[in-house]
Amino acid sequence: MPATPHKSTQELTEVEHIMMSRFANRFYLDRAVDLEVITGILQAARHAGTGANIQPWRVYVTTGAAKTALTDAVTAAHKTAPGEYSSEYSYLPDPLPEPFASRRREFGAVFYGSLGIAHDDLPARSEQTERNCRFFDAPVGLVFTIDRRLEKGSWLDLGMFIQNIMLAAKARGLDTCTQEFLSRYHRVFREHLPLKCEELVVCSMAMGFGDPDWARRRPHMPKASIEEFASLHGF
Ligand SMILES: Cc1cc2nc3c(=O)[nH]c(=O)nc-3n(C[C@H](O)[C@H](O)[C@H](O)COP(=O)(O)O)c2cc1C
Repeated sequence: MPATPHKSTQELTEVEHIMMSRFANRFYLDRAVDLEVITGILQAARHAGTGANIQPWRVYVTTGAAKTALTDAVTAAHKTAPGEYSSEYSYLPDPLPEPFASRRREFGAVFYGSLGIAHDDLPARSEQTERNCRFFDAPVGLVFTIDRRLEKGSWLDLGMFIQNIMLAAKARGLDTCTQEFLSRYHRVFREHLPLKCEELVVCSMAMGFGDPDWARRRPHMPKASIEEFASLHGF
């Protein structure tokens, strides 16, 4: 899939720079993030568009000892009995139809290839997967929930809120990696965070200062060209 060349003669706006420099970062520095930075991000993110202004999101932000207790418990669950945990929703269908299955295969090849992990090196792949449980060693771990009584429409709103968080974080020099993987450990989250029973864990997110070495050599995920997803009329 070819990357979309930026053909426009217009300068990128500041916001567009931030949008295009965001990437799912799985390598972080051991550097704390101040509470004021987190509240600044949340202050901005709460302005996300939301149908009928119902603002269906909730987010639990953890760092320090609270994050360590959480990640220790999730890692233990993952190592001892991963089969006993499952997400309360299905993220992707099985089988995944085309062109999505090909894109997922390409993601695996690009990402694991960049780490020198061969397709059939299952121990190395599962070691990398396990890093999800530690929020990829980022200093901040977030958990996003939604009220289970709401419908698909509100999940759109939550996605916009999450995107706002990623962009506001990037604007403050922080990287993120959203993680659907950890939604399967919602029972563990319930033991460590004050989730109400109507809250459904949708995903989590690692956040922190990215490792600059990795930023330099990271692979850029291929993005579909405009022609592949947009249909323009009347221009
Ligand atoms: C909702 C959502 C869930 C994701 N879940 C995971 C995950 O569980 N683990 C992971 O390593 N990356 C996860 N990612 C990151 C994607 O793999 C990444 O966004 C995608 O490959 C595109 O790469 P880019 O974000 O660097 O452009 C997730 C991203 C999103 C938006």
